[in-house]
Amino acid sequence: MIIIPGPASAVLGEAIAKELGFEATLLNHRLFPDGETYIRFPEAIQGETVVLVQTTAPNPDRKLMQLLFMARTAKDMGAARIIAVIPYLAYARQDKRFLEGESLSFDIILGMLESAGVNDTVLIDIHNEKAVEALMKKHEMRIHTLTAIYYLAEYMKENSYQGAYSLSPDLGRSELVEKVSQLMGGGFAFFMKVRDRYTGKTTMKVKNLDLDGKDVVIFDDIISSGGTMARAIQGLKDQGAGKVAAVCTHALPVPGANEKLKNAGADKIVATDTVESIYETVSVAKLVADFLNTL
Ligand code: R5P
Repeated sequence: MIIIPGPASAVLGEAIAKELGFEATLLNHRLFPDGETYIRFPEAIQGETVVLVQTTAPNPDRKLMQLLFMARTAKDMGAARIIAVIPYLAYARQDKRFLEGESLSFDIILGMLESAGVNDTVLIDIHNEKAVEALMKKHEMRIHTLTAIYYLAEYMKENSYQGAYSLSPDLGRSELVEKVSQLMGGGFAFFMKVRDRYTGKTTMKVKNLDLDGKDVVIFDDIISSGGTMARAIQGLKDQGAGKVAAVCTHALPVPGANEKLKNAGADKIVATDTVESIYETVSVAKLVADFLNTL
């Protein structure tokens, strides 16, 4: 097995290789002044199982293109099996045609990876696993989905949130958060988030909870604008919650998001290293390495 981190996941790719007891193989890559990418594999990979590690944020289109170049080049060079570990897969939220005429972006990306020669794709905390099960079956490429939520929960327990209440800010991931609440040792609830499919605007229905000074951990897949977390934090603080932590797998904060979370009263913000961020970080290297060992 050869582990090749892409330009977007150099640190995580090396950490995964280290967990597996390998040295990562580093690619030659550069950006031309006009923004195009150059990729070169430094050594022969014919007949090998090649693991490409490349996240796709920020700047999803460039990073996806780099991944496609890597996959297709590995195929051209005769790799026996190509495994794409995509710590954060951009466009996975568009997993349905919500309005007539919309691009089914998630499906299109999967199709592109497959035609570039990828045999296995490893994804972490995709937005709505249930919604994509049928889509995933359409592809011959094997698609494996992992979750980092248990690693995040362990981290929170070790960092003064043992026994905290667990909250899912929407219905989509509530089953998973309910499971993790058993590990956290506190109660569980979910709020309801509704998106206007034309404007993209969301509204949140905050439920009345019996919090009485209890600490709460909000688990979500993504922080982007920070709006979802901020509204949930505010709703909890208004009901007398103690410390409230905003915890996500993929930190994709746009400008202003951090301030929004702080202003809402976030006491702690934690993410994983699927995307490099300014937040306290829990690594997914072991999660991925352990999974690769099972293949
Ligand atoms: C969507 O429903 C996801 O689960 C996240 O809640 C969402 O992507 C977070 O985005 P934002 O930070 O912009 O509210």
